[in-house]
Amino acid sequence: MKAKLWTAALAALCCTVLLAQENQQEEGERLAPYYPTPETIVEKMLQLGGLKAGEKMFDLGSGDGRIVIMAAQRFHADATGVELDESLWKQSSERIKALGLQKTARIIKGDLLRQDYSSADLITIYLLPSAIDKLRPLLEKQLKKGARVVAHDFPITGWEPEKTEDIEDDGEGRSHTLYLYRR
Ligand SMILES: C[S@@+](CC[C@H](N)C(=O)[O-])C[C@H]1O[C@@H](n2cnc3c(N)ncnc32)[C@H](O)[C@@H]1O
Repeated sequence: MKAKLWTAALAALCCTVLLAQENQQEEGERLAPYYPTPETIVEKMLQLGGLKAGEKMFDLGSGDGRIVIMAAQRFHADATGVELDESLWKQSSERIKALGLQKTARIIKGDLLRQDYSSADLITIYLLPSAIDKLRPLLEKQLKKGARVVAHDFPITGWEPEKTEDIEDDGEGRSHTLYLYRR
């Protein structure tokens, strides 16, 4: 009887450990800390990316949703953010709702390495170099011809930028570099 109980307890423990591992894998790896792009630079990123009304854009690791919101509100694009962090996903989704932008803006709660970007006209990223290295093969596989990518501060190694823009001072004493790529 005792042996049976021990076997059942051990099996339950194994299931819990396996489920926890699976959940962690499903959620994804945290590829960059939350460090928002200043609004003035957000506008420059979307301008550099040549975002037009009705085009589809994705911000990978969308933080508080500021890039997605500006893309939908000011550039009239169809904008999607991808965010791993639950509270940032919630905060940005609520802001989109409060602004009445649900038809043209949304945030996916998930891993940016597990999404489909084949419909994207423009991708924006503000990620660490190690994260960009993981993302690059996915973009090479999925992006359609002519799709643009704008990277903030960290370039995509191995890709040749079509244009680079240096901003000496964003108004708060910070300098930024933007890179435009075209597939
Ligand atoms: C440097 S912040 C950039 C935020 C926003 N794009 C901006 O420029 O203001 C990077 C964001 O990526 C998110 N992130 C990190 N790893 C992620 C992953 N695997 N999938 C989705 N988002 C992720 C972080 O939570 C954070 O909000």
